[in-house]
Amino acid sequence: MVDNIKWHSGEINKAAREELLGQQGMVLWFTGLSGSGKSTIAVEVEKELYRRGRASYRLDGDNLRFGLNKDLGFTAADREENIRRIGEVAALFADAGLITLASFISPYRSGREAAREAAGVENFKEIYVKASVEACAERDPKGLYAKAKKGEIENFTGISAPYEEPENPDLIVDTEKLSLEESVELVLGLV
Ligand SMILES: Nc1ncnc2c1ncn2[C@@H]1O[C@H](COP(=O)(O)OP(=O)(O)OP(=O)(O)O)[C@@H](O)[C@H]1O
Ligand SMILES: [Mg+2]
Repeated sequence: MVDNIKWHSGEINKAAREELLGQQGMVLWFTGLSGSGKSTIAVEVEKELYRRGRASYRLDGDNLRFGLNKDLGFTAADREENIRRIGEVAALFADAGLITLASFISPYRSGREAAREAAGVENFKEIYVKASVEACAERDPKGLYAKAKKGEIENFTGISAPYEEPENPDLIVDTEKLSLEESVELVLGLV
């Protein structure tokens, strides 16, 4: 099958689109436990970028599971495929010249590395939104930790499934120590 497909290049490339938009297309990849603050921070960063006249687009875990990834569950294999697809989609958005905010637990290093490679290392920033399982379970904004602890959710990251901490992230945002405003400022420093 792969033998019969061939990349077809256009004449307008990423650099040309970036010149048009006056910005660098990139992926800001937020990883961390459920409830660590990925979506909350991404939403505020998106608002601030908009205010500054920057074109951005937000990709969020739950949202994409309503459509593109609605055929996927939460087994290790499905999570891997979930992140593989998101990594490819984020890379396309960055290639379009947009500042792409991707918020996914993305618990496995291999998945995040694949996303980095899809976007190109120079276009990818890994942001570790850090908070302990205890703090996240305390916040429990979606009530998921309570369910997971009762055994009502299988493969719940931090409880019954692993989270592999980033070894060398571009930024660590410790949401147990920083306010939301401080967290947002740190992220904007990457753009
Ligand atoms: N500095 C902070 N930055 C972001 N959120 C914070 C901060 N301090 C406390 N919070 C709170 O933490 C919670 C984070 O929830 P949020 O939905 O953003 O998590 P998430 O990482 O997107 O989780 P999920 O993976 O389940 O989507 C919110 O209730 C938010 O108000
Ligand atoms: Mg979220």
